[in-house]
This record gives sequence, structure tokens and C-alpha cells, in this order.
Amino acid sequence: MTNTTFTPRVFSGMQPSGGLTLGNYLGALKRYVEMQDQGGFETIYCMVDLHAITTWQDPADLRAKTRELAAGYIAAGIDCEKSILINQSAVPEHAQLGWVFNCVARMGWMQRMTQFKDKAGKNAQNASLGLFAYPALMAADILIYHATHVPVGEDQKQHLELTRDIAAKFNHDYGVDFFPITEPVIEGVATRVMSLRDGSKKMSKSDPSDASRINMTDDADTIAKKIRKAKTDPDALPSEAKGLENRPEARNLVNIYAALGDMTVEQVLAEYGGAQFGTFKPALADLAVSKLAPISGEMARLMDDIPEIDRILARGAEQARKITAPILKKTYEIVGMVGA
Ligand code: TYM
Repeated sequence: MTNTTFTPRVFSGMQPSGGLTLGNYLGALKRYVEMQDQGGFETIYCMVDLHAITTWQDPADLRAKTRELAAGYIAAGIDCEKSILINQSAVPEHAQLGWVFNCVARMGWMQRMTQFKDKAGKNAQNASLGLFAYPALMAADILIYHATHVPVGEDQKQHLELTRDIAAKFNHDYGVDFFPITEPVIEGVATRVMSLRDGSKKMSKSDPSDASRINMTDDADTIAKKIRKAKTDPDALPSEAKGLENRPEARNLVNIYAALGDMTVEQVLAEYGGAQFGTFKPALADLAVSKLAPISGEMARLMDDIPEIDRILARGAEQARKITAPILKKTYEIVGMVGA
């Protein structure tokens, strides 16, 4: 089956639990904006609040974080005249298609998901059923739009493979060519931004150490301090990328510099090869502050007008449902629901 009949359409989303990190920005959000601006795609971006409640969230906090994430999207360059911006729960077809996919996905597929194993930890029997079914809802988020391209960081690769498996199984089981086989877009130098404290761990909003990550809301002093304190090795930077092998912390900082500066690793090393971290870290801090401060400033400004954020999301939901309602109706018809 081919994808040729599908409109080029981008969908991606983030959980509104915790704040936006530099990992989210460089691995995903920056690319959302690029795909929006390059043209040739319809673009739909989402706050996945239904996914967030797979682990308990304080309701007031979830509401605040959802709006803050919306502000972060807009501040980073998502333009609601070009993209549809939505909150997942406001478009009920996501959850409705999610149920159908719960019936398509196999237990064995879900059991292989490394993120479930990581998040459920040792006490998997006590994890919510929603956490287990999480990737089926994620497939629904994407396929309820017939999205063809999904920009994400490296950690979502397995979930996107599952999305392809669900689409293929649905198409096969019902003898249709209805859902596209979506392309993951995992590109660039920052698809896996690592912790500033441990180069073998992903930078994550759930890491107990705040020093391990840069939050998009951190002020200039905090950003500079976190970079200054970032773990490194005692050697100077190499002048070629090969010299970063087996130096995960050094490689991470160089990758962050390259992603923030829209440069290649080679270009960064051409400039800083031979430099000590005492020179490189302040340069990285300056670059990070110059790129992130305008975004966090704009986020704070937008957060002063919550009714405006809510209006933008209400409009996004309305636009989204023009796409999702007919796709859900057709799905229900295909599977044999009466009155769809
Ligand atoms: P979430 O909220 O964990 O992360 C949002 C996006 O940020 C990327 N990311 C990173 N990229 C590089 N380095 C890092 N350290 C880093 N940390 C996070 C993630 O890869 C992701 O692209 N399951 C998804 C949300 C989701 C979704 C979807 C995504 C739900 N439905 C449909 C795409 C399409 C998640 O938990 O992302």
C-alpha cells in the first residue's frame, strides 16, 4: 500500500506534564516550526493532556502546564495562522480512535515498549492501564489526521514504528488502504539531548535534578550556571567529530551548540577545536541565552493573557475537528458501527 493519496500533513505533540526543556525544544519544537515555515505541509501541533494523566497529575497544575506549553509553542514560532494548535482532550476523536486502536494493537506489541518499561519501573502491576495503552492513543493522535510525517526526538522512534504497525494491521484486517504509513522525522544533531549531569542519560523533565536540564523558563543566570556546572572531561575540544567518540558529555555540549546555532558539528569544531571547556562553556551559555531568552520572555508575556490562549485553542479544536470528524466517521463505517 502506498502513501501517495494522502495530503502531506505533519502532526506532533508533547505532554504538558513538567515544563518545556531544551531537549523538547531542540529535538522537536524547533523542527515543528521549520516544517511549518518550509511550506508543502499542513501542520498540526498538540498538547497531549490525555497522555499526561496516564500518571497522576494535579488538576490545577495540569491546566496551568497545558496553557504554558501552548504559550511555549507560540513563543517558539508556531503561528496559528499557519498551523493548527490544539489540546488533545478538546478534539474527542483522538480518544475515540484510540479505543479502536486498543482493539487493533496486540498485547505483545505493547509489552515490548521500552518507555512503558521505563515509566512503569519495577512495579508494573501498579501502573495505570492508560500507561500501557499509551502508544495506541499516540497512534490515534497521528492517524486521526491521516498525518504523513511526525517530527520527534529519538526516544519516540519505537512508538512511531508501532503507529506504522497499527496502521498496516488495520488496513490489512479490514482490506482497506485507509490509514497512511507515517514517516518519522528524526533529524539533525539534537535528536537526543543528554542530561548536563550524566552524558549517558537523556535530558528529561522528570529527572529529579534540575541541574540536569535547561528549562525554557530558566533565566539567563540559571542557564549560564547550569552550563558552567555541566559535567565534562578534562580534555580540550577536538578539531574533528571523530574526536568526540567516547566523550558523551563533550559531544552533548557540542551538539547543543550546533543545534542552537544552526551549525554542523564540524563547523563548531572548526571554531572551537583545541579550546578548553573554560572557553567553550561561556560561549555556549551566551548562545543559549541569546536564543532562549526571547522565547521565555514571549512565553511570560503570553501567559499574562490566559483568555487569549484559550481562544486560540478553541479555534484550533474547531479547525481540527473538520479533519478528524470525517476520518472517525469513515473508520466507524469500516469497522461496522451502525449510525456512524
Ligand atoms: P514528550 O512530551 O516526552 O516529548 C516531546 C518531544 O520532545 C522530544 N524530546 C527530546 N528530544 C531530544 N532530546 C531530548 N532529551 C528529548 N526529550 C524529549 C520527544 O522525542 C518528543 O518529540 N509520546 C510523546 C507525546 C506524543 C506524541 C504523539 C508525539 C503523544 N502523541 C503523537 C508525536 C505524535 C511524548 O511523551 O513526548
